[in-house]
Amino acid sequence: LDILLDSPDNNVSEYIFEKIGVDLHRRPEHPLGILKSAILEYFDSAYGKGSFRMFDDLHPIVSTHENFDSVLVPQDHVSRSKNDTYYVTEDTVLRCHTSAHQLSLLKQGEKKFLVTGDVYRRDTIDATHFPVFHQMEGVRVFTKCELSSTELAPQDFVSQELKSMLEGLAKHLFGEVELRWVDAYFPFTDPSYELEIFFNGEWLEVLGCGVMQKQILNGASLVDEEAWAFGLGLERLAMVLFDIPDIRLFWTNDERFSKQFKAGMFRSGGHNMQKFKSYSKYPPCYKDVSFWLPNVSKFTENDLCEIVRSTAGNLVEEVKLIDEFHNPKTNQVSNCYRITYRSMDRSLTD
Ligand code: DAH
Repeated sequence: LDILLDSPDNNVSEYIFEKIGVDLHRRPEHPLGILKSAILEYFDSAYGKGSFRMFDDLHPIVSTHENFDSVLVPQDHVSRSKNDTYYVTEDTVLRCHTSAHQLSLLKQGEKKFLVTGDVYRRDTIDATHFPVFHQMEGVRVFTKCELSSTELAPQDFVSQELKSMLEGLAKHLFGEVELRWVDAYFPFTDPSYELEIFFNGEWLEVLGCGVMQKQILNGASLVDEEAWAFGLGLERLAMVLFDIPDIRLFWTNDERFSKQFKAGMFRSGGHNMQKFKSYSKYPPCYKDVSFWLPNVSKFTENDLCEIVRSTAGNLVEEVKLIDEFHNPKTNQVSNCYRITYRSMDRSLTD
């Protein structure tokens, strides 16, 4: 690893390197893991259990050939620049999309598969962009026999199946959601489309897809076949599904986040599904208060909390006993409570 990091072509900061192997998408209790399972559930029900094979442990360091050439990204495409992509060495990168695995899986003979993994892009900063995020790639190969069962031109048939499958997926995830198809360009598909979902007052691009270029299929010795492919951003979809306002939250270890997600919580169509309840990003301010109990048997914590609530209102986040002292001489008890104050909308002063 150190040797790789020392390469003159390396532009991967330690902060980014440390994200390798975290594998948020492989945690069943994490929103990304929950979403991954929900999507797999859709493929199982639409095509039969296990008919799509899921790969979620392919390593994110790939060759520039896999990341770009194997999916026909032109030599002068911006995504090849060191400004956009993390280079580990001159000819290895942190994959910038899960499409990097299409060709090798096709070559291995896979015909229906999903690839889930972390992908890396140098980018600007806002609430929906993070340099490491997660994608799911899907590929379905149609045999000559399947293609001959229709009057439609093969490409139209494949396009149609692709779009209705993805609309079904959107419905499975979100129920009745407003969506639209936008014509797009990807080097690896023709025709190509993007699916957008209306969320929080704006159209959010959630996936790209299309009919796979013949040249890629031919590279895997598939000459009579056609295929569709799609790639979707898991964070974007999870933000819509659970109402998560900021992409950084996926990386937090804060229990106020993680405790809100459970492996079995997904409900098809989002019906009656628990949404994420926001908590403040502002820093807490602690005050410890201790007092002698006038009468030990009469004191209850709830009573104390009533007093704190009525005095400090919404600024209190937690009241917690941190020390209890018994003076044997006087036979008195003292309690020390830590009161955590935190505002939902500003940094508190001391
Ligand atoms: N790789 C594309 C991206 O990262 C997404 C994508 C678009 C994947 C079209 C596909 C596809 O498989 O067919 O933006």
